[in-house]
Amino acid sequence: MKFNETIVTAKNGTKIIVRSATVDEAAELLDYLNKVSAETDFLLRGADDQKLTLEDEKQFIQSGLESPTKYNICVFCDGEIAGTCSLFWSDKKKVAHRGNIGIAILKKYWNLGIGTELFKIMIELGKKNNMKQLELAYVAGNERGKALYEKMGFREVGRIPNAFIMNDKTYRDDVLMVKEL
Ligand SMILES: CC(C)(COP(=O)(O)OP(=O)(O)OC[C@H]1O[C@@H](n2cnc3c(N)ncnc32)[C@H](O)[C@@H]1OP(=O)(O)O)[C@@H](O)C(=O)NCCC(=O)NCCS
Repeated sequence: MKFNETIVTAKNGTKIIVRSATVDEAAELLDYLNKVSAETDFLLRGADDQKLTLEDEKQFIQSGLESPTKYNICVFCDGEIAGTCSLFWSDKKKVAHRGNIGIAILKKYWNLGIGTELFKIMIELGKKNNMKQLELAYVAGNERGKALYEKMGFREVGRIPNAFIMNDKTYRDDVLMVKEL
């Protein structure tokens, strides 16, 4: 689904645009994805994973805009894509009350409250779309992520042990969190 433009304010007073990307922005989004996945070891996609093509990216944007069970949202800051988040759910009735969240922000924009603003938006979208709970998972050790998620009302409900092999070859758990709406 398309998320229409909304303006939010970062902790430093910068005005930030939040909206769905258009297919014309596929190249910019691809650059952002390559950058963000190289900056952190806490995302599933690593810098060494197979690169997406421009065509893949165009299709991803288009299918997100057309999907009735998904929002792909971009944050634009100082004229560039500073971050992305997504909320998606199943069309199967038994599980359609469970929204799943993903988020990533470029390092130079961390700790400005952008993650907090994106979570506020996704929580409202979850309610609007009749979700009863929101769910997410993070790599154990991601303290910034954990702090943000707990602040937004998520609690840990379990772990998948040794779910990730990190760049330094150590194993980390996948920490599962839920927030009731
Ligand atoms: C995790 C992430 C989305 C957070 O976004 P953000 O815009 O930096 O988040 P915010 O600024 O809104 O909030 C971060 C909070 O963490 C706190 N924090 C920062 N570093 C911390 C640390 N080392 N330990 C504990 N808390 C920390 C901040 O103080 C802030 O809390 P506050 O608002 O109460 O002061 C972002 O850092 C990111 O994209 N990281 C890399 C990719 C990633 O980890 N994605 C999530 C995968 S599950």
